Amino acid sequence: MGKLDGRVVIVTGAARGQGEQEARLFAAEGAKVVLADVLDDQGAAVAKELGAESAAYVHLDVSREDDWAAAVAFAKDAFGTVNGLVNNAGILRFNELISTPLEEYLAVVQVNQVGAFLGMRAVAPELAAAGGGTIVNTASYTALSGMALLTSYAATKAAIVGMTRVAAMELASKGIRVNAMCPGAVDTPMSNPARLDPAADTANTGEAAEASEAVDGLYRKLVPMGRIGRPEEIARLALFLTSDDSSYITGQPVVVDGGWLSGVSVF
Ligand SMILES: NC(=O)c1ccc[n+]([C@@H]2O[C@H](COP(=O)([O-])OP(=O)(O)OC[C@H]3O[C@@H](n4cnc5c(N)ncnc54)[C@H](O)[C@@H]3O)[C@@H](O)[C@H]2O)c1
Repeated sequence: MGKLDGRVVIVTGAARGQGEQEARLFAAEGAKVVLADVLDDQGAAVAKELGAESAAYVHLDVSREDDWAAAVAFAKDAFGTVNGLVNNAGILRFNELISTPLEEYLAVVQVNQVGAFLGMRAVAPELAAAGGGTIVNTASYTALSGMALLTSYAATKAAIVGMTRVAAMELASKGIRVNAMCPGAVDTPMSNPARLDPAADTANTGEAAEASEAVDGLYRKLVPMGRIGRPEEIARLALFLTSDDSSYITGQPVVVDGGWLSGVSVF
């Protein structure tokens, strides 16, 4: 028996990184997964690999209201209902506060913050109609702690934690639980662009391998557990918050960071 048997869950940003691992794990636990992304070829390929019984892909730009309506309709067409949502899609831009153009700030807000808002707003009525369900939002350690060069990103992730708390309070009576994950550094193309280069895993020379080594070295020093997180480890938290294992938890930001936020390192 899987932990999500018979549940229909929409995962945004599911073409790669954490979203892909969430989709794979949820399908393995018996869910019907609607993978949503703007990377259509990659997302469709993951859904195809999981099989039509367990997965379907839909194009969804999370910042677009009409795309959300279409994606929810697609999920109901494909699998009959919607029982869960993982708002995972996100983008990251590095810039100093005083150098951040308004367009860049707003672009990050539009995907990370507006995307999570539109997703909750579009899916919550379906969850209520299904008798209850779960929403897992993806915030970040930067929602709870500062990091230089991340004004726009940190602002959106703090907003996600704020919206999570409010949504949890408003939706509890409808049987809907809403929580947020706050990952530390996780080895995906977002934090380690070398991941986008297929040679990055195998090559011992070249820029991609050097970049990967630099990322490894950085997190060996910064993180008490001595390593960057794996997307599969975030997927397991998403599973916990989506399954009945977390049946009495709602409105919480849950940190998954190898101890990074636990204190100031003196070594
Ligand atoms: N990697 C990290 O270190 C880290 C740490 C904390 C939080 N996060 C958060 O985890 C989530 C997943 O990130 P990841 O590390 O897997 O990054 P990633 O870049 O590998 O994956 C992000 C996915 O979101 C999709 N996406 C981007 N804009 C979209 C849009 N407008 N509509 C739909 N899909 C869109 C991308 O195509 C991609 O598939 C993000 O919300 C990110 O902010 C990541």
